[in-house]
Amino acid sequence: MGEFSGKNVFVTGGASGIGHATALKFIEQGATVLITDLNEKAGTEIANNHENLFFAPHDVADEKSWQQAIAKMKSICGSMDILVNCAGVSFSDPLEDMTLERWRQQQAVNVDGTFLGVKYAIREMKERKGAIVNIASIASDVGIFAAVGYCATKGAVKSLTKAAALYCAQYKYDIRVNAIQPGYIETPMVTDVLHINKDAERLAQKLKKMHPLGHFGEPDDIAHAILFAASDRAKFMTGTSIPVDGGYLAQ
Ligand SMILES: NC(=O)c1ccc[n+]([C@@H]2O[C@H](COP(=O)([O-])OP(=O)(O)OC[C@H]3O[C@@H](n4cnc5c(N)ncnc54)[C@H](O)[C@@H]3O)[C@@H](O)[C@H]2O)c1
Repeated sequence: MGEFSGKNVFVTGGASGIGHATALKFIEQGATVLITDLNEKAGTEIANNHENLFFAPHDVADEKSWQQAIAKMKSICGSMDILVNCAGVSFSDPLEDMTLERWRQQQAVNVDGTFLGVKYAIREMKERKGAIVNIASIASDVGIFAAVGYCATKGAVKSLTKAAALYCAQYKYDIRVNAIQPGYIETPMVTDVLHINKDAERLAQKLKKMHPLGHFGEPDDIAHAILFAASDRAKFMTGTSIPVDGGYLAQ
């Protein structure tokens, strides 16, 4: 018996990084988990290697794809108790060169994807009880000159989280909505960007020093916070965003 025994959890972006780590923590705690992702190969492989963990192909930017993924969740588990909106992309096009198309692609995944998840999760959970955890970022609160579009998306995720929490409270739905704000976490999102940089090691050291604890976080650091926000231990917490960032935002 674990803390999440009997709970059905939907994790987007579950084929990599933070979403993957989060899915594993939930099954360790007794949950049944559906991970969804664009990356079918990685998602299928993870599902094949774990009991009580299933995979559905999913593009979070596409409304029809949400409807199909939710239908798959219901066919496997019957219902949804927890949604973790983790899928995301980070583009580093310079502001002056970023095309409107690239701007919109990033908005579509990070903002539209989170909105659609919140919308459909509320519809599924409002007659019972539920928790939604969105993944915002330190970039919700501070600007990063090399990631202007990304900052705009994560600011939106934080605001959406507050408003959706108030919406649920207003309509007396027993659904809490919160967000986690990671600092730099060692996942493909960060390591891929470092690897295309000419001086990857120097950039990594510089970024690590921006965290007062002096290093990047691990996916599990974020997974632990997500599980807390999704749990009954956080029953008086809604509409908030918790930084898990090695002190980045405390400066
Ligand atoms: N790694 C960090 O430093 C960091 C910091 C702050 C916030 N975040 C946020 O955490 C979340 C997870 O990021 P990560 O670091 O684990 O990155 P990651 O690249 O390891 O994982 C992201 C996953 O999302 C999937 N994905 C991308 N577009 C999708 C779409 N349209 N539909 C479905 N799946 C899609 C990818 O295939 C990938 O598996 C993201 O929202 C990211 O913005 C990450």
